[in-house]
Amino acid sequence: MPRDRFGRDINYLRLSVIDHCNLRCVYCMPLRGLKFVPSDELLTAAEIELVARAAVGVGFHKFRLTGGEPTLRPDIVDIVGRIASIEGARDVAMTTNAILLPRLAKPLREAGLTRLNIHVDTLNPERLKKLMRFGTIDEIEAGIAAAEEAGLTPIKINSVVTRDYNERDVVDLARRAKERGWHVRFIELMPLGGGEAAHVALSQFVPSRETRQRIEAELGPLLPAASGGPSDESSNFRFADGDGIVGFISPVSEPYCGTCNRMRLTADGKFHLCLLNDDELDVKRAIRSGGGEPAVAEILRKAVLGKPTGHRLDEGVSTEERSMFQIGG
Ligand code: 5AD
Ligand code: SF4
Repeated sequence: MPRDRFGRDINYLRLSVIDHCNLRCVYCMPLRGLKFVPSDELLTAAEIELVARAAVGVGFHKFRLTGGEPTLRPDIVDIVGRIASIEGARDVAMTTNAILLPRLAKPLREAGLTRLNIHVDTLNPERLKKLMRFGTIDEIEAGIAAAEEAGLTPIKINSVVTRDYNERDVVDLARRAKERGWHVRFIELMPLGGGEAAHVALSQFVPSRETRQRIEAELGPLLPAASGGPSDESSNFRFADGDGIVGFISPVSEPYCGTCNRMRLTADGKFHLCLLNDDELDVKRAIRSGGGEPAVAEILRKAVLGKPTGHRLDEGVSTEERSMFQIGG
């Protein structure tokens, strides 16, 4: 297993496959002035497979496809199939906004997708419109139903808590988790990219402590529940009665950098060493100049060794060059 300078086992690769999205969440993508990676600059399905193969050789075994919105890649089912068929790739997951799942959930499952995280910030139609801007709750609910039908269960929901938009809707989401056996995780806003979205993330921040209090005030005490392993970034809780898990991901108020096990690949082919720093290593250039698996593996080992100890949000330092939709969370 690849160990970094701080003794962390880095075995989880998040692959951003596209930087486009069909939504425009206020803390993620501004409405104007966006520049996307031209399609010939995106890694191809075969190049993504090459990186994943090299990663397995280096000791990685967990993969997650992210975006932007990964389902906007016309070849997303092919990409999942290629990674799932690599011997040693134990887990191939995806984070999506669910809009396109009615037609994709089943083929993705058949191609070998093991798990899905669905991003929806509120179940309230008006507030969803304000926060996620382009999608509707009906579309997202249809996507969730398709994921359930395809057997991509238990459903895991990510909700980014944003003051003045959805901070009170956490109770309804937690209630839905309880009723339907979902796992809902509430995520603290992180400022990335230095622009309009980062500004929203800073000014609308809600600490997890406050979200938890709001849920407990309405639904009763939350009891500690098992975590998903030593590098699960979510603190999980259950209800005294009923199913469902409520988790809190608190990168700002309770940083978990000490147990980070992640490396990230951007859609334009760079290893991004830590979500909240700018350090990157180009791997696409090596691939396109004829470097095969050994060359990619060497760059990945360097990337692991170059991982910073942790973020410095408390000093006001974050990634300036990249936005969330270019890294994939
Ligand atoms: N802070 C925290 N989480 C974010 N996401 C997107 N932007 C932010 C942000 N600024 C989350 C979304 C998505 C995942 C890729 O990252 O919920 O699920
Ligand atoms: Fe799209 Fe996810 Fe960003 Fe929202 S948070 S705009 S769904 S990539």
